[in-house]
Amino acid sequence: MTAETRILELRAELLEHNRRYYQDDEPSISDAEYDQLFIELKTLEAKHPEFFSESSPTQTVGAAVLPGFKQVTHSVPMLSIQSVFDESQVRDFDRRVRGGISQLPTDLFASAAVVEYACEPKLDGLAVSLVYIDGVLASAGTRGDGTTGEDVLANVRTINSIPHRLTGTGWPSPLEVRGEVYMTKLGLERLNSAQEEIGKKTFANPRNAAAGSLRQLDSRITKRRPLEFCSYGVPGGHNEMPDTHAAILEQLRQWGFPISEELEVVQGIDACLAYHKSIGERRDDLAYDIDGVVYKVNSIADQQQLGFRSREPRWALAHKYPPMERETVVVGVDFQVGRTGAVTPVARLKPVQVAGVVVSNATLHNMGEIFRLGLMVGDTVSIRRAGDVIPQVVKVITEKRPADAEEIPVPKACPICGSLVEPTQLKKRAKGRVSMTDGAVYRCTGRLACAAQLKQAIVHFVSRRAMDIEGLGEKSVEQLVDEGLIASPADLYRLKFEDIVDLEGFAEVSSNKLLAAIADSKRPSLARFIYALGIPDVGEETAKVLARSLGSLQRVMVALPQVLTYLPDIGLEVAHEIHNFFEDEHNRSVIAQLLENGLQLQEEGELAAEFAASTTLAGLIAKLDIPSVGPTGAEKLVAKLQSLERIIAADGIDLRQALAAKQADAVREFFLVEANQALARSVEAQLREFGMHWESEKKVAQGLPLAGQTWVLTGSLERMSRDVAKDKLESLGAKVAGSVSAKTHCVVAGPGAGSKLAKAIELGLRVLDEDAFVAFLSEQGIAV
Ligand code: IVH
Repeated sequence: MTAETRILELRAELLEHNRRYYQDDEPSISDAEYDQLFIELKTLEAKHPEFFSESSPTQTVGAAVLPGFKQVTHSVPMLSIQSVFDESQVRDFDRRVRGGISQLPTDLFASAAVVEYACEPKLDGLAVSLVYIDGVLASAGTRGDGTTGEDVLANVRTINSIPHRLTGTGWPSPLEVRGEVYMTKLGLERLNSAQEEIGKKTFANPRNAAAGSLRQLDSRITKRRPLEFCSYGVPGGHNEMPDTHAAILEQLRQWGFPISEELEVVQGIDACLAYHKSIGERRDDLAYDIDGVVYKVNSIADQQQLGFRSREPRWALAHKYPPMERETVVVGVDFQVGRTGAVTPVARLKPVQVAGVVVSNATLHNMGEIFRLGLMVGDTVSIRRAGDVIPQVVKVITEKRPADAEEIPVPKACPICGSLVEPTQLKKRAKGRVSMTDGAVYRCTGRLACAAQLKQAIVHFVSRRAMDIEGLGEKSVEQLVDEGLIASPADLYRLKFEDIVDLEGFAEVSSNKLLAAIADSKRPSLARFIYALGIPDVGEETAKVLARSLGSLQRVMVALPQVLTYLPDIGLEVAHEIHNFFEDEHNRSVIAQLLENGLQLQEEGELAAEFAASTTLAGLIAKLDIPSVGPTGAEKLVAKLQSLERIIAADGIDLRQALAAKQADAVREFFLVEANQALARSVEAQLREFGMHWESEKKVAQGLPLAGQTWVLTGSLERMSRDVAKDKLESLGAKVAGSVSAKTHCVVAGPGAGSKLAKAIELGLRVLDEDAFVAFLSEQGIAV
């Protein structure tokens, strides 16, 4: 092949990769491979200046503006920087810098000429340029092709760390600030799990995620994405600005811009290399992804003297780290069984060094991921390591698939216990119809009969944030299960000294300690207990929400999915998981045994007032999934017909007075099905049983503190009459009832209280004496 052909070939290839990277936010090769092609092209072009072309990827940056965006023209082009991997290339850079700064001693043996550099991490996100006029954010653009970028002002305004208005004084106008929009590792992780939950595509790395989020035509989407900003400079003429790079950044910080916490000013290139080393050692621990560090000549005067060379400044250098992404071959796929029975495929890899760590396994998350990647055994894949997270398969390099690649079969039986493996079912709604489809997650149906699930269920049950039983590590749990000493978490509370003292690593002392720790764990809070049960998709937060809102294990266990969706952050999917868990005979029996074995839940109590306040009849109707009837339709229906029974009984004519014909017919049709009537009635009945009252809606709307609560007054009050007390309670939104029941929120008992007080105590209700009641009223701003 002639040099010219190869140059043309490389240009075409690089342009295509640029398009995928910048325009589609979906690169098809790793950064390292890109760099290799780029360097090859650059070298060939340097050898053959006769083939120079202005449109070569070596002479341009980025890619054209995505259709749909307005353009911004950059006052000063947004350039790239030279990037290198080796120490020798870093030293070459320093030599060129020293040679280019004439103020420095031009002595040929100028080893004493030490340049001051500012060092910063090179964030892996995307560059934006922000323009402030009179201190107010007026324009924001992506790099684009370097000269014109996409106008992303609306999206940039949704990023919290970018100031809309500058703080402090003394800013020039216009002020242009450049920096990187990026996503933290945690932000990406959260975004990806949210994307996965709603069946949307996940992002391979923070850079793609940041770019994909910023380059959205709908800024409401951008607003929901965890984007961050870090400024790294101001372009071009620096009139009115400090005279060093570091001082400029400090100035930017004072005007309200985030700058890197890792910024360091150092003397000479050896110190730069030390900086590279020290940041490199902490790379995994940083909250964000970096692909290198950047050295910049700190003096602005020196920067100006050094100037630019084609598309790069002569005063800055990116010193890169080995990529976190590498290619290797998948030699097999194993299946692991998790706590909830989820069968997780794990790719066995031909061992490969990824940024200093040998990687031989990568998680594939679930079967859906295998389908999405189109992975086969024998495939070459690109794998990515990010911090301590288990390495992931980013993509399959299909062009490298060998002829004998093998399909990965969906396992039919659990590799541990042999039970049937089934896909989870997902509810899909389309055009008002609900259908079930196979989810991405496959589960072993063996539950606690499956040793893998049992072991992990117990490890989770005893863990610090759950029942907090110390002295029971994974190894001991394994032994207890393998020896047949425990077959469910409830069995822990039956363990005897003789059972454990002979186990490996269990001398007398630790046996006693363990038994004491088990005994100590018998009084967990409701939230801890719910979390410890290990209900699929119920983490600590959800467990707290359940405990706080519903107040008792009894209510959590019987709650219908539709009722659960009234709680904050619980969607229908999770609600079904919770409901199914407690419907399960086996789970119920384990819970019963736990309580029999002496477990006493603490902090059980009332249904939360906020929960009572969030339940409305219109909300209930909206949750029934009646085709074409959303929240607004439900509101109209309730405004007209007032009660569920009237809505169920309504004929077409009644309904059409409240709703459009199509919706009215849908409601009629829906309630003609008896199962639907029954569902609606049971949801309503449960909400009422849980202590919520439609009547309280108006008071709730006024935000009264006791809205939805029922109080009972008993005995004689000395500081006010019963009627006055009743008025005061009602003014706070409570209903005052004559008799005590499980639905009562609080009993105020004066001297002489009798059977009502006894009943309240028996039911474990909150009881206030007169002093406590008066104190409570005064807390609410009511004087007596
Ligand atoms: S300085 C003229 N500093 O890396 C010099 N760039 O090739 C302008 N980047 O896409 C860039 N962190 O967005 C600079 N601390 C940093 C950076 C940084 C990330 C990105 C930049 C550009 C690329 C430079």
